[in-house]
Amino acid sequence: MQRVEEELTRLIKEIDYDEVTKLFSMLSGGKRLRAKLILKIAGEHKDAPLLAAIVELIHGASLLHDDVIDDAMTRRGVASVNATEGSKMSIMLGDVLYSKAFTELVAFDKEIARVISSSVTALSKGEMMDVKMAESFNTDEEKYLNMLYLKTATLIEAAAKASAILVDKDVQKHALYGKNLGLSFQIIDDILDITSDEKTLGKPAMNDFVEGKCTLPYIYLDKVLNREESQRLKSSHAKNISASEMEWIKTKMQENKTIEKSFELAQQLSNEAQVAVSDDKELVGILETMIKRSY
Ligand code: FPP
Ligand code: MG
Repeated sequence: MQRVEEELTRLIKEIDYDEVTKLFSMLSGGKRLRAKLILKIAGEHKDAPLLAAIVELIHGASLLHDDVIDDAMTRRGVASVNATEGSKMSIMLGDVLYSKAFTELVAFDKEIARVISSSVTALSKGEMMDVKMAESFNTDEEKYLNMLYLKTATLIEAAAKASAILVDKDVQKHALYGKNLGLSFQIIDDILDITSDEKTLGKPAMNDFVEGKCTLPYIYLDKVLNREESQRLKSSHAKNISASEMEWIKTKMQENKTIEKSFELAQQLSNEAQVAVSDDKELVGILETMIKRSY
């Protein structure tokens, strides 16, 4: 990972603008899940740290834009760039980062460049769907999972696929692994938004629903509520609801085991991913750590 950080520092330096260097150094790097995945799959290849840095730049850029779109004041436990420097800076820094990533990507094999760049179109589509879907109470599970796939899983899938191409490993199996890892990761994130507290999350709890996002536990809950209760749930959607209303929703989720049901889907996706790469202990280990986050 040290090599990835060095590549990131080198690429940022090449942009040759103090403002960018300063703002980038203020960002919290986060878990670097995508970079770690690339190193686990293709670590022996000399270009793996560069590929990992490229993917982290794209991911970082998408979050800079996402925080403007979501009006988020914090990111990874620290103030977001839009909070401290304004939305214009956040958007432009994102533009600088992802265009630099694409400039570096052209040096790679055409198929690798295609896999990564097309996933960015998919994630942008997914983000648009997320915003559109938050305008009303979505009860369509398939539509929700498709949006999650595009918004979160495609870049992870592309990272796994591209690194498999780099070292001639089984592309299909690694792609399936990346896709399912991404999906179950996001489902668990959605669960933690409900079950964790503000201190652990670095943002208010149950914020997804306040932002209009009907994640799986809400979709499953709506399916089992009676008409009156369903009305009550829908009337809380996309609003700053009271603590007692939050408690009512949580109690209904407990009674109807909708968190458990969501977790079961995450577990099932993770199991499929595990089967795809069962001979690779390290990749299996990533899945296990991810699933354990929810305890
Ligand atoms: C976080 O979702 C957002 C994403 C995973 C993708 C955002 C994608 C774009 C803004 C498209 C633009 C792409 C580039 C490269 C500039 P979230 O809001 O559900 O999660 P959060 O709680 O981490 O904010
Ligand atoms: Mg967001």
